[in-house]
Amino acid sequence: MRILVLGSGAREHAIIRALLAEDADHDITAAPGNAGIADDVRTIGLDANDSQAVADYAQQHGVQLVVIGPEAPLVAGVSDAVRERGIPVFGPSKEAAQIEGSKSFAKRIMQGAGVPTGSAETVDSVETATAALDRFGAPYVVKANGLAAGKGVLVTPERDAAIAHAAQWLNSGTVLIEEFLEGREVSLFLLSDGENVLPLSPAQDYKRLLDGDEGPNTGGMGAYSPVPWLEEDFVDEVIETIALPTVRQLAAEGTPFVGLLYCGLIVTDAGPRVIEFNARFGDPETQVVLPRLITPLSELLFAASTGGLGGMPRPEFAFDVAVTVVLASEGYPEAPVTGRIILGLDAASEVPEVQVLHAATDVRAISTDATSSWSTENLIATGGRVLNVVALGSTFEEARDRAYAAIGTISLEGGQYRTDIAASVAPAAH
Ligand code: AMP
Ligand code: GLY
Repeated sequence: MRILVLGSGAREHAIIRALLAEDADHDITAAPGNAGIADDVRTIGLDANDSQAVADYAQQHGVQLVVIGPEAPLVAGVSDAVRERGIPVFGPSKEAAQIEGSKSFAKRIMQGAGVPTGSAETVDSVETATAALDRFGAPYVVKANGLAAGKGVLVTPERDAAIAHAAQWLNSGTVLIEEFLEGREVSLFLLSDGENVLPLSPAQDYKRLLDGDEGPNTGGMGAYSPVPWLEEDFVDEVIETIALPTVRQLAAEGTPFVGLLYCGLIVTDAGPRVIEFNARFGDPETQVVLPRLITPLSELLFAASTGGLGGMPRPEFAFDVAVTVVLASEGYPEAPVTGRIILGLDAASEVPEVQVLHAATDVRAISTDATSSWSTENLIATGGRVLNVVALGSTFEEARDRAYAAIGTISLEGGQYRTDIAASVAPAAH
C-alpha cells in the first residue's frame, strides 16, 4: 500500500516500523521524518501542517492512506483537506480533534455522553479561579484550556502555586479547575471509524522527568505494555462507559471521530475516569503498543479511515511485554540543548529484541572523523526527546534489562533518562 505518514517523532518511527514489519513492500513516505526514519523509508521536506500541500502531494502521488501522527496537523485541518480529495486519512477532522485541543469541548462531550470524569469548572479570571480552587480543595488541579505542549497542567497541594499557574495561563485563554482523581494512570488507545471502536493494548506512561515520579511534567519519559495490574474487564469497561459513548456523542453532534481516540485514564476505586482525551497515538506509549501488535496495522488504519471497523475482530497482541526508555537532551523539558552528537547506536541495536527509534535527530555531514562521513558519528540531537530504546521480553525484568543494557551503550553529552521505567509492575491485588 502507498502510505504517507505525517510527523517526525519516535511515535511516527514506531508506526512506520510496524507497517514495515507487516509488509516490507509497503511504499511508505514520511513527512518530514527524522534521521532514523530516513534510514527506513523515503522522507520528504513537506510541511505536515500545510493542508493543501499535503492533500496535493497525496493526490499527485496516488497515496492510498495518509496517517497523521501529531496533533498539530489535525488542529490545522489537514485531515479535512485530504478527505475532501477522497483519499482515506487516519486522523480526525479539525472539529473532532477539539476533543484534545479544547479541554472544555472535551468536558462538554463527556457531559453529554455521561462519561465518568472529574468534575471541572472553566474560569476566565483569577477571582473565579480562586473561588473554584477553594471549592474543590487540595490537591489542586489546574489545566490550561488549549494545546499547551504538556506544560498546561499543574497538580499541587499548594494553593498559591495553583493560583499562580491559573493566572499565568489566563493570560492566553481560559483555564479549567478540576477535581483531583486518586488512582493509577493508564492509557488506552481505541481505533474509531466514526461509529465503531476497536481497542489496542493498554500502556502505562511515565510523565515526570525524574525517577520516583519527581520533577517537571514532560511529554513522556518511558512506557510499558501490557499493564498487568488492570482488572480483566478493564478494556470492556472503558469501551462501554467511555469510548463508545464518546464516539456516539461526537457523531450525534455532527463531528464524527475517525482516527485514534486516546483515553488518558485514572483507575479509581469507583472505576476508570477520564483525565484527558487525545486525538492521536500517544508518545511514547505507541512505541510499546505497536511492537506487540500481531494484526496488520495497515488493515486496521485503513478500515478505521473508511468506515470499516464494524464486525472486525479485536486486534491481537503478542504475550511479550515491551518497555521503552526515552533519552532526552540536557535541559529538557525547559530548555533542551540541541546540536550534540549521538554515539553508540549500533551497539544498542545489537542487544537482543531491542530497537532504537528516533525522536529528534538529524544527520550532519560534518564528521569528527575525517575518514568516515554519514556514519552514526554524525548523528545529532535536534530536540528535547531524542531517542527511544524499545525492548521486548517474556517478562518485565527481561525487557527492562535489555532496554537499560541498550541505552547504556548510547552516549549523548548531558543526556538524561529515567532508571525506574517498568521497575515496579505488580499484577492486580485480588
Ligand atoms: P494531562 O496533561 O491532562 O495528561 O495531565 C498531566 C498529568 O496531571 C496527568 O498525567 C496526571 O498525572 C495529572 N492529572 C491530570 N488531571 C488530574 C486529575 N483530575 N486528578 C489527578 N491527577 C491529574
Ligand atoms: N504520552 C502522553 C501523550 O502522548 O500525550
